[in-house]
Amino acid sequence: MGSRETWATRLGFILAAIGSAVGLGNVWRFPFITAESGGAAFLVVYLLLVAFIGLPVMLVEFVIGRESKQNVVDAFPAIGYGNWKAIGVIGSITGFIILSYYSVVGGWVIQYIFGSLTGAYTGSAEAYFGQVSSGLNTAGFDLLFILLVAGVVGFGVRDGLERAAKLLVPSVVGLMLFLAVYAATLPGAAEGYAYYLSPNLATLRSDALAILPAAAGQAFFTLSTGVGVMITYGSYLDEDRSLLRDGFVIMLADTCIAVLAGLIVFPVFFAQGIAPGDGGIGATFVSLAGAFTTLPGGRLVGTVFFVILLLAALTSAFSILEVIVSFIIDTTGIARSYATAGSVAGIFIVGLPTAFDLQYLTVYDAIANNVLLLLGGLLLALFGGWVYATDAITEFSKGLTSPQFIPKLWIWVLRVPVVVVLSYVLYQNILDVIQ
Ligand code: PFF
Ligand code: NA
Repeated sequence: MGSRETWATRLGFILAAIGSAVGLGNVWRFPFITAESGGAAFLVVYLLLVAFIGLPVMLVEFVIGRESKQNVVDAFPAIGYGNWKAIGVIGSITGFIILSYYSVVGGWVIQYIFGSLTGAYTGSAEAYFGQVSSGLNTAGFDLLFILLVAGVVGFGVRDGLERAAKLLVPSVVGLMLFLAVYAATLPGAAEGYAYYLSPNLATLRSDALAILPAAAGQAFFTLSTGVGVMITYGSYLDEDRSLLRDGFVIMLADTCIAVLAGLIVFPVFFAQGIAPGDGGIGATFVSLAGAFTTLPGGRLVGTVFFVILLLAALTSAFSILEVIVSFIIDTTGIARSYATAGSVAGIFIVGLPTAFDLQYLTVYDAIANNVLLLLGGLLLALFGGWVYATDAITEFSKGLTSPQFIPKLWIWVLRVPVVVVLSYVLYQNILDVIQ
């Protein structure tokens, strides 16, 4: 198998994992799902799921990756559980589907950069979105986005992913902070904050179960967990370090940026007089473009915003492609460049329907997020909690300085709460998709 690459620096790993987590999930998907699901009550449920369901499963991925030093599929035989290989196969398929439409949305973002520069969306934000989101142009920019991603993955771990993440992550954070401050000055800010940040306890009590399925899908999607990205990234870890601390930092960074995205988008919704939840899958784009049109300096701010979003989307897309490419390289032994070229061709073709009809995009998104991702999460929790627990505790404890009950607590959280919640939401979501 030869010697595998490893991360050049400790910071490189953290930044690449954060780069994977932070993306369209935070800026595009989180605000519109939150808006559709009632605002602040959704935010509360989502935050709980990220911390108590998403993070524990992410840690299972890190442990498997670091112990096996293999791609998602070979990781399981490498640690002595070949039967669980299915997790890696399902993860790769999930990643393949996600990337196929993620790139389409990435292509929208590129078009919005041009739209901001040329003022093309100033006539009607609604009409512009319609034009951007389906047609030959959509397919063309989808392809452009995929080629950008392939370019970086093609360079390999150290030169591609790590260098890109080091550069991109800090600029994403800085530019978004700037925009959140900018949004605070909008006339709709107070109303936006109220909708987004002050949960109504009665609603929370009555709707928590209804909110759960969508919140769980978003929690896994946003943390890049359930696909095997964190197995693959963990596999490039050479040294003993606290996986718990790393996982926590990654979760915190991702959550801050999602919350920050909401602090930008919700004031804008209200400043525009748009009822949150009315816009569907295009809501974030339509409302933001509308705002950038009417507000002073809006076109410049819009350009900056969509450039940030593109950078964030690219680092996430790299991570998915890396799962697929590292699997192909380790399985077939073919060169990285060929593995990359072959995968992106397949991804482009599979994603084509979603570039021509938003209906398909919604279906792909529902199948990948609400079913496959959660299935991957459930299998990882069952495996980590019930099958691999003893070894998992040993691996998890390396580099850990915190009290000894922490690893045991982690295993018990996986065994019961994570398994129960994920079984419930998976069941609900499957009923939903079938209907
Ligand atoms: N976490 C990314 C986001 O929030 O945009 C999306 C993503 C990346 C999902 C990698 C799944 C994945 F494996
Ligand atoms: Na995210």
